[in-house]
Amino acid sequence: MQGKQPVAADLFDTLFDGPRREDIAPGAALLHGFARSQQHELITAIDAVVQRAPFRHMVTPGGHTMSVAMTSCGRAGWVTDRGGYRYATHDPANGQPWPEMPGVLRDLAHSAATDAGFPNFAPDACLINRYTPGAKMALHQDKDERDFTAPIVSVSLGLPAIFQFGGMSRSDKPRRYELRHGDVLVWGGPTRLVYHGVLTLKDGDHPLLGRQRLNLTFRKAL
Ligand code: SIN
Ligand code: FE2
Repeated sequence: MQGKQPVAADLFDTLFDGPRREDIAPGAALLHGFARSQQHELITAIDAVVQRAPFRHMVTPGGHTMSVAMTSCGRAGWVTDRGGYRYATHDPANGQPWPEMPGVLRDLAHSAATDAGFPNFAPDACLINRYTPGAKMALHQDKDERDFTAPIVSVSLGLPAIFQFGGMSRSDKPRRYELRHGDVLVWGGPTRLVYHGVLTLKDGDHPLLGRQRLNLTFRKAL
């Protein structure tokens, strides 16, 4: 027999062949494996944020409880309730300012944005999403931010997910991309307001994060 037989626990790593940039649309790049070398520092930083601002399932203005659990760090956090969607400088769960954005997160977002053609990205909000198997995010636009000249930088950790990258109209058929542990997707410029979403997360067991996917989206919100 030729070659190495991958064992189950090893599969996530054997499929990784080093960072690679894939331009998917004008202003949009998928940076495969960009965050991988920092996985441990990122997870430690996320844990520290979540200690102070725990994940919660928010309710949409329509009264639907989201399957994705969320929290935020940075000067602003994204919140939704029966009153609408907005950025808030304080966590409504405890009335405190959101935890500061850890330097390792801010620096990663800045370097990924630079790599994708957006130098000087200075995010003031990082939304942290936690998907467990069965969770999904319907097609939507990120349009609650004030500054659409800044891109969205999205970091994926843990279980892989299928991301839908659509067009400027909800009815445009989205293309699908698998986002794996350590991948960073950047969209801005002409694609800043594309519809996007995440298909129902399949069950699995990630070597570092277990049965979940964590996603960070960095934005210039205020
Ligand atoms: C989002 O659109 O805010 C989340 C995207 C993702 O989970 O990949
Ligand atoms: Fe989004």
